[in-house]
Amino acid sequence: MAQTNSTTALAQADKTASDCMPRPPVSEIIARRISRRQALGGIAAAGLLSLTTARPAFGQARSSLNFTEIAHGYDTNFHVPKEHQPQILIRWGDPLFPDAPAFDPLRQTATAQSRQFGYNNDFVAFLPLPHPAGRADHGLLCVNHEFTNADLMFPEIANDAGEPVLSAEQVDTEMAAHGHSIIEIRQRGGKWETVLDSPFNRRITTLETEMHLTGPAAGHARLKTAADPEGRKVIGTLNNCAGGVTPWGTVLIAEENFHAYFAGDPDRTAEAENHKQYGMRNKPRFQWGRYHDRFDLEKTPNEPNRFGWIVEIDPYNPRHIPQKHTALGRFKHEGATTAITPDGRVAVYSGDDERFEYLYRFLSDGRFDPENRSQNMRLLQSGTLSVARFDADGTLQWLPLVWGEGPLTPENGFASQADILIETRRAADLLGATPMDRPEDVETNPVSGTVFVMLTNNTKRKAGDIHAANPRAHNRHGHILELIPPGGTGARADHGAATYQWEILLKAGDPANIEDDAAYHADISSHGWLSNPDNCAFDHRGRLWIATDGAPRSGFADGLWACDVDGPGRALTRHFLRTPRGAELCGPCFTPDDRTLFVAVQHPGAEPGSDFRTPSTRWPDFTDDMPPRPAIVAVTAGGRPIGNPHMG
Ligand code: FEO
Ligand code: CA
Ligand code: CA
Repeated sequence: MAQTNSTTALAQADKTASDCMPRPPVSEIIARRISRRQALGGIAAAGLLSLTTARPAFGQARSSLNFTEIAHGYDTNFHVPKEHQPQILIRWGDPLFPDAPAFDPLRQTATAQSRQFGYNNDFVAFLPLPHPAGRADHGLLCVNHEFTNADLMFPEIANDAGEPVLSAEQVDTEMAAHGHSIIEIRQRGGKWETVLDSPFNRRITTLETEMHLTGPAAGHARLKTAADPEGRKVIGTLNNCAGGVTPWGTVLIAEENFHAYFAGDPDRTAEAENHKQYGMRNKPRFQWGRYHDRFDLEKTPNEPNRFGWIVEIDPYNPRHIPQKHTALGRFKHEGATTAITPDGRVAVYSGDDERFEYLYRFLSDGRFDPENRSQNMRLLQSGTLSVARFDADGTLQWLPLVWGEGPLTPENGFASQADILIETRRAADLLGATPMDRPEDVETNPVSGTVFVMLTNNTKRKAGDIHAANPRAHNRHGHILELIPPGGTGARADHGAATYQWEILLKAGDPANIEDDAAYHADISSHGWLSNPDNCAFDHRGRLWIATDGAPRSGFADGLWACDVDGPGRALTRHFLRTPRGAELCGPCFTPDDRTLFVAVQHPGAEPGSDFRTPSTRWPDFTDDMPPRPAIVAVTAGGRPIGNPHMG
C-alpha cells in the first residue's frame, strides 16, 4: 500500500521535473531560492531532531528517489541498493586492443601498459555512437587515469619500506598508466561489454602522446624547452582528474596536481615564484625526474608551465591530436563543465582544487554552431577567463582576467595575456577573488540551469577567515554551493552574465554532531549524511549525485549520495553506493536514458599497511594472484532508471 502511494508521488515528481515545465520569471526563481536559503538556516537543528526520532519512511516520501538506501560501512567490497546490479566493466591492466598483452601483475611493463587500461580511473564520459544521434546502449567510454600508487602496482614496492627507488621501467610504466583511455562499449542482453577491435579504442599517456598548445600562451617563451623550441608541442598530460563533455562531442580533461611530478629546487630557476605558487618544493611525490630531464625543473625549468591546462580530445577521431587550451588558464584544474549561453557562447566552469584557491569561468569569443563541428573545436582557443568573488549579500561577481585592466599590468609583472594565463593564480589574487574551501567538481543542473560547486574541505580555514560562501572554520566535511545565473531556467540561464546569485545547498558532516554544524534536509536518515564531496553528476531529471573522497576519516567508506535539488526533497541526501576499503569514488556518469550509471572506483586498497603483497582488499578479482585494481563499474536496475527502480 505504501509503495503504491509512493509510486504515485514519484510519477508526479517526474512530471514536474521535466523539461516541459513552464518556466517562471527570474524574479520568482530568485524569490523562491532566497526563501529556501532562509529555511536552510533551520535545517541543521531540524536534522538533529530527525536523527533522534528516526523517520526514514517520511524522508523517502519527500524524495523523488525511491531506491532502498544503503548503510554507512567499511569493508572489502562494493555495495549498491538491492534493486541495482553492479557489473565490473574494465579494470586496470585489461587489454584495449586485440593484440594487447594479457595483464601480468608480476611482470608489468611500460609497453604492455601502453596497450592496456590505465591506473586510478577518475573522470568518466559516455559518448553515444554514432555521433551525434547515437544510442544509450552503445558508445565510447572516455576515462581519465589520474595518478598511480606504486606500492599497489609493483610487487617489489612495499608500503612500509620508506621511500624505495623505482626502476626506470617502473617509472615508465607509471607514465604509461597515466592519461586517458577511450574504448567502445555496448550493451547486449542487459550486460555491458568492451569492443576490443574497435577503431576508436585509444590510449593517451604521459609517456608518448603528442599534444598541441593553443591560445594566447601557445608559443610563448615561457613554454619553450630544448625538446620543443617552438613552445607548441607537449608530450603527455598529467594528473587528469575530472573533466567534461562539450556540446560538440569532445571531451575536456583537467590537469590537476601537476606539481607532484617535478623534482628540483625552484629557487635555482628563473620561474621560482611561479613554481612555488603552484606547490613545487623539490619534494615530488613521483620519481620521474630521476630518469626524465623534463621532470627535473632545474634542468627543464619551463616544463611545468606546459601542464596545468584543460585538454580537449575528440574521441570520435582516433588520430586527433589533443589540444591544451591556454585560454582557460593554468591552475590545478579539477574539471571543466560546459554550458551554452542564450547567445550561443560557450562557458566552461573549472575549480582550482587547493585550499583557499578559486573558482573560474571561461567564456568563448565565438558562438557554438551545431552545424559546424570543426569551427566549434576552435571555440576554446579564445575568450575571457574570469574568477569568482562571492559577496555576503548572495551575489557572485565574475572578475575578468584581462591584460592591461586593473592590476594586471607590466608594473605587476604581466607583460601580456600569456603571462596572466601562465600565472593565473597570481592574477586572481590581485583581483580580490574569494578564497574557497578546495573547489572540486562543478556541474550544471540540466533542468534548472543552475550550477553546483563541490567544496571538499579546508581544515586550515581559521575562525577569522570565515566567509558567507565558506562559512565554517576548520571545515572538515566540505559543502556544496548552488550558483544561479540570471535569465531563467534550463537553456535560458545566462552563463555569460557578469553577476549571479548564490546559495548553500548543504553543509556536509554529521547532523547529529553539533560541532559539525552540518545542514541538510530535516528528514535525512542516519546514513544519508556525507563527508568531502568531490565528483558529481546530474541525471537527466535534475537530481544531484555526489561522490566523496575522504569519508573514511569519519569512519565509513567513500561512495555516492543522491538528492533532489528542487522541490520538497531538496538536500535530502540518500546513500546509494559504497566503495571497497581504501578507495574513493570518481566519475559518476549516466547514459542518456539514465538506465546505466558508470562509476570509477579509484585506488582500492590504498590505506596504511596495505600494499601489493598484503592488500587490505583484493577487489574486484578476489584471487590471491591479483592485487586490488581500480575499475569502472556499470550499475543497472533491471532496465529501470537508476535510483528509481520502482517505476518503469
Ligand atoms: Fe583529483 Fe581534486 O581531485
Ligand atoms: Ca576529484
Ligand atoms: Ca579525488
